[in-house]
Amino acid sequence: MGILSGKNVLLGVTAGIAAYKSALIVRLFIKEGANVRVVMTPAAKDFVTPLTLSTLSKNEVYSSFTNEDDENAQWNNHVELALWADLFLIAPATANTLSKMAHGTSDNLLLAVYLSAKCPVYYAPAMDLDMYQHPSTKATFDTLESYGNIQIPAEHGELASGLSGQGRMAEPETILKFIERDLAKGLPLKNSRVLITAGPTYEAIDPVRFIGNHSSGKMGYALAEEAANLGAEVILVSGPVSISISNNTIKLVKVSSAAEMHEEVHRFFDTCNIAILSAAVADYRPVEVASEKIKKQNTELLLKLEKTEDILASLGKIKKDRFLVGFALETENELENAKTKLKKKNLDLIVLNSLKDKGAGFKKDTNKVTLIDKDNKVYPFTVKPKTEVARDIFQFIIDKLHA
Ligand code: CTP
Repeated sequence: MGILSGKNVLLGVTAGIAAYKSALIVRLFIKEGANVRVVMTPAAKDFVTPLTLSTLSKNEVYSSFTNEDDENAQWNNHVELALWADLFLIAPATANTLSKMAHGTSDNLLLAVYLSAKCPVYYAPAMDLDMYQHPSTKATFDTLESYGNIQIPAEHGELASGLSGQGRMAEPETILKFIERDLAKGLPLKNSRVLITAGPTYEAIDPVRFIGNHSSGKMGYALAEEAANLGAEVILVSGPVSISISNNTIKLVKVSSAAEMHEEVHRFFDTCNIAILSAAVADYRPVEVASEKIKKQNTELLLKLEKTEDILASLGKIKKDRFLVGFALETENELENAKTKLKKKNLDLIVLNSLKDKGAGFKKDTNKVTLIDKDNKVYPFTVKPKTEVARDIFQFIIDKLHA
């Protein structure tokens, strides 16, 4: 899923032949994980049926202030519809509706919704070429631009009149891409590449056994989703976990051992400007991995372990001006230990979670963190869902990068 995932999209359909394409627009938004509601002008129903659009959007379609066909008719609240929307797209937008929008006319539900909307408004004009070129249409476009409305320009091609020229509504895919790009423009991590590690590592003992830990990966995955929502390109190097990502722009690299994680992290670090290492990497691994399953023999079995690569410390040595974030999981002398790690591993920020805190730690959906910056300043946060902790961490990083 991309930037439209979870967004409330209100689609306004007006009476142009291109209205048949509005069904495709609904489908594309739904495929991107958006919630879609449709408002039509009464005349638009001659071009595409409300039934088609309600079936595809899985929501009732609105075309009048009261649904007069329904004997229990209720008032369709234009203000509520407008406030629900994260964005309002009018496609197709006829010359008639655009002119009314420019002049504040409110003689149907769609126009009343438009006047009440506080969200970004996009419109995709659809009209014959001479209408498109008419000075009054140009004046309408200028007025709408002065209101902050965003035009998705019409394309050149064959028109319903049989003539050829500019006036065809942009294709549904083009409309979607246009909106996605436009939304991404304003995002604070638009030009960032973020590397994140998550989950545990498994260090093999023999073909069936390993040394691992209880990390669920939830914190790292929440960080990856948040970074992607903020417009970053995200590479998530993940140990074995049973969660999936919903944002399909995230590049997921699956690894198992600390050595594999080390290798993959170094493969991508160069091209990133932010790295957050939240994985619970095993500190030790068996010196030898038995090629066959170890059989039960004596009462005791001794495993000789060796240190794994400290991935975070290795990045600290080569980081230059990249923003490097580490995690510290502590059970005692939390602040001192975290500060020591911050300095020793050459970090810009360390996220401390104490296992003593209720609501913090492995497998939980919540976390309680304390952020410590390079100047040893300490910022404690309350217990929150990991998704909100991810938001706090990125807000902190963005503030630091812009300081
Ligand atoms: N880390 C790492 N590679 C390792 C061990 C840890 O990249 N081999 C990273 C973790 O992802 C985390 C940070 O180092 O961001 C701190 O991990 P933690 O286990 O708390 O600290 P250690 O440095 O391993 O020290 P100790 O276990 O002694 O507390």
